[in-house]
Amino acid sequence: MATNITWHSGSVGLEERQALLKQKGFTIWFTGLSASGKSTLATALEQTLLHSGVNAYRLDGDNIRFGLNKNLGFSPEDRIENIRRISEVAKLFADATVIALTAFISPYRADRDEARVLHQSAGIPFIEVFVDAPLEVVEQRDPKGLYKKAKAGEIKEFTGISAPYEAPTNPEIHIKSHEISIEQSVEVIVSYLVKNHLLASDQIIRKN
Ligand code: ADX
Repeated sequence: MATNITWHSGSVGLEERQALLKQKGFTIWFTGLSASGKSTLATALEQTLLHSGVNAYRLDGDNIRFGLNKNLGFSPEDRIENIRRISEVAKLFADATVIALTAFISPYRADRDEARVLHQSAGIPFIEVFVDAPLEVVEQRDPKGLYKKAKAGEIKEFTGISAPYEAPTNPEIHIKSHEISIEQSVEVIVSYLVKNHLLASDQIIRKN
């Protein structure tokens, strides 16, 4: 923890920034097992938003671990740090009036709650989306062959196999990815955003 530092406020506050840029920033936090569909859904939502002229940016577990978080592994301590950094980065994006879409397993409830508090204390909405698919389903999908390796003991501390996943108890949105399509899931989220006045109803251009 650094000492002798001082916070510098800008001359444009959050509300004025939003009014000037005609957009509200917030974070949509996708959580779920590996291969549950978080990245796929975040990607589809990002596309819909961008094609509607709404600025959105995806922060994705695998990608962020190539750069900002490349010094982190999958021990409990490293996952906590992974999520702490991403919470801060998402908050910065949202503060800059971008819609931050985060797709991380984020297996610990306490870390997700901390991300929520961090946003709320800055007056930034935080929407937790539980991308839910049973373990049997994600094991079957296994697009990267990681569940197979984890079961064979070749990957240690693999979420769902040899490391815990704490499902959200009260997420804003619960998507059962094995029951509805990507398009339907995007629609569920967009409807939530409109209902909660985070997007205007005429703002989103649907593909069909
Ligand atoms: S988190 O638990 O710290 O939130 P994160 O979302 O960044 O995880 O990264 C998860 C991705 O890393 C998985 O989708 C998978 O591709 C890969 N991965 C590699 N090793 C592990 C592991 N031990 N547990 C879970 N995911 C792993």
